[in-house]
Amino acid sequence: MTHSSGKELWLAAFACFFAAAAYAGIVFLTRQTPAASGFYGHALGILGFVLMLITETLYSLRKRIRTAQWGRMADWLQFHIFTGIVGPFLVLLHSSWKFNGLAGATTLLTAIIVLSGFVGRYIYTLVPRTADGLEEQSFTGQMQVAALANARRLLALWHTIHIPIGAALFTAAAAHIWGALYYATLLR
Ligand code: HEM
Ligand code: HEM
Repeated sequence: MTHSSGKELWLAAFACFFAAAAYAGIVFLTRQTPAASGFYGHALGILGFVLMLITETLYSLRKRIRTAQWGRMADWLQFHIFTGIVGPFLVLLHSSWKFNGLAGATTLLTAIIVLSGFVGRYIYTLVPRTADGLEEQSFTGQMQVAALANARRLLALWHTIHIPIGAALFTAAAAHIWGALYYATLLR
C-alpha cells in the first residue's frame, strides 16, 4: 500500500512562498500592486492559468488512456496536487485583489475546486492503492470491507462534484480571458 507522504504539499507551499516573496519584491520596487492587465499581472495570470490547465488535463489523460504507461499514477497525482495549488496561487496574485464580476466568480470557483481537492485528497487516501493507483486487493480483510465500500462511495460522490466545478471554472476562465484581453488589453 502506498502512503501519501505529503511531499507535494511541502513543495507547493515552498513554491507559493517563493512566488509571494517575488510578488512582495515587485510591490516594494514599483511601490504599487501589480495591475492584472500590466506586465507582471499578465505574466502571473498566464503562468497560473497554464498550470491550472495542466492540472485539469494531464492526470485525467494518464488515468483514462489505458495503454499509457508514462509515469506512476501516484506521482501524477502528486504533480496534479502541486500544480493544482501553485497555479491558483499565481492566479490569485494576478487578481490585484479585486474580485468584480465574472473574474471574481472565476476566482471563487478556483478557490472552491482547490478546497474540494483537499477533501478529495483525504478521501482518496482512505482507499489503499498500489503505486499505479489501482486499488489494493490483498488488503480487504473481513473487517474493512464495509469501510472500504463507504470510502469508495464517498470518492465517487466527490468526483461528481469536483469534475463539474472544474468544467464550470474553465468555461468562466475562457470567457474572462477573452473579455479581459479584448477590453483591457487590445482596446487600450
Ligand atoms: C483562472 C484564471 C484566472 C482568474 C481566476 C483570473 C481572475 C482575475 C481577477 C479576479 C481580476 C480582477 C478583476 C477586477 O478588476 O475586479 C482579473 C483581471 C484581469 N485578468 Fe484575469 N484571471 C485569470 C486568468 C487570466 C489570464 C490567463 C489572462 C490573460 C491572458 C487574464 C487577463 C486579465 C486582465 C487583462 C485583467 C484586467 C481586467 C481589467 O483591468 O479590466 N486573466 N483576473
Ligand atoms: C486548479 C485546480 C484543480 C483542478 C482544475 C482539478 C481538477 C481535477 C480533475 C478534472 C480531476 C478528475 C481526474 C479524473 O478522475 O479524471 C481531479 C481529481 C482529483 N484531484 Fe483535482 N483539481 C485541482 C486541484 C486539486 C488539489 C489542490 C487537490 C489536492 C489538494 C486535488 C486532488 C485531487 C484528487 C485526490 C483527485 C482524485 C484522483 C482520482 O480519483 O483518481 N485537486 N482534479
